[in-house]
Amino acid sequence: MLQTSDIKKIVIAGAGLMGASMAQIFARHGYSVTLYDISAESIDKGKNLIAINQRSLIDQGEVSDSLSGETLSRISYTMEKDVFREADFVIESIVENMKVKLDFWKEASDIASDNAVLTTNTSGLSISEIATAVRKPERFCGMHWVNPPHIVPLVEVIGGEKTAEDTIKVVCDLALSVRKHPVAVRGDPQGFIMNRLQYAVLREALHIVEKGYASVKDVDDVVKYGLGMRYACIGPFETVDLGGLDTFFRVGSYLAAELSNAKDVQEPLAKLYREGAYGTKSGKGFYDYSNGGAERAIEKRDKDFLKLAKCLYGDL
Ligand SMILES: NC(=O)c1ccc[n+]([C@@H]2O[C@H](COP(=O)([O-])OP(=O)(O)OC[C@H]3O[C@@H](n4cnc5c(N)ncnc54)[C@H](O)[C@@H]3O)[C@@H](O)[C@H]2O)c1
Repeated sequence: MLQTSDIKKIVIAGAGLMGASMAQIFARHGYSVTLYDISAESIDKGKNLIAINQRSLIDQGEVSDSLSGETLSRISYTMEKDVFREADFVIESIVENMKVKLDFWKEASDIASDNAVLTTNTSGLSISEIATAVRKPERFCGMHWVNPPHIVPLVEVIGGEKTAEDTIKVVCDLALSVRKHPVAVRGDPQGFIMNRLQYAVLREALHIVEKGYASVKDVDDVVKYGLGMRYACIGPFETVDLGGLDTFFRVGSYLAAELSNAKDVQEPLAKLYREGAYGTKSGKGFYDYSNGGAERAIEKRDKDFLKLAKCLYGDL
């Protein structure tokens, strides 16, 4: 298997929201990147997303025109499967559907060289199950990025049943080489780590709203102005150490029984889902995004994330 320093050519399958963003990260750090997709329309969309991202990074003074030009010159686009033959490293970031991913990997891992390192950006499908379609599955693992990946540092590197330890190491080292923060996840747990934590918070947030203790906006404010600010700097265990285990033990002993233990998607979310209110993508979710609200929300998120990332971690 290739070592991190041997990796020069990266192929990203899926020129969508995640693939287009990840391509810029690797290209910016000197890798030659090819975005592969099955649809010409998706490739055009991916190109457009990259152009928008680069423009906003230039406008915010994050990259110079010339660095952005160099980044763009290292990204190519194709619909030819043969591209996997030359790949040192593959990230599959196609639609989140087990059958589509299995079909993809059966073909791609056959074409790829024996030495190539192969990864999937699945949000939570079983790595071991996807690996059943991969030729030489010991070189395959999960590489889960967080949206928007060109700004957020975390990358979860998830081993499946057959993943070799060396594979985890190469993928973690590659993430470090593009200034990301990898965390190795063992045992292929559903939802990995970040989504398990995210859904634990979401479950309690929905419970609070259902009980009428606070509005959707007030719950968001509690996270933004309190918990989230804390968690951007210290994790839950550091929080306990700094607050005192005795206090956290005492609070936990009466609060644990009060918290939601819902085993299904709760009604405030399920109801909006049934109504087709999917959030920014449909113009309505918990909030209204009509009249350009969606674009403004995405732009504000990216700007705020960028300010925070710069402030806490320096240059991207
Ligand atoms: N969007 C997120 O916030 C997020 C975060 C982390 C991980 N992910 C995961 O990343 C993956 C991609 O998500 P996305 O949001 O970029 O989706 P997307 O819909 O924006 O892009 C998916 C792309 O895959 C292409 N595609 C579909 N089938 C293909 C195939 N067989 N071969 C090649 N290309 C194919 C589509 O044409 C499309 O361009 C999913 O597995 C998703 O769960 C998404």
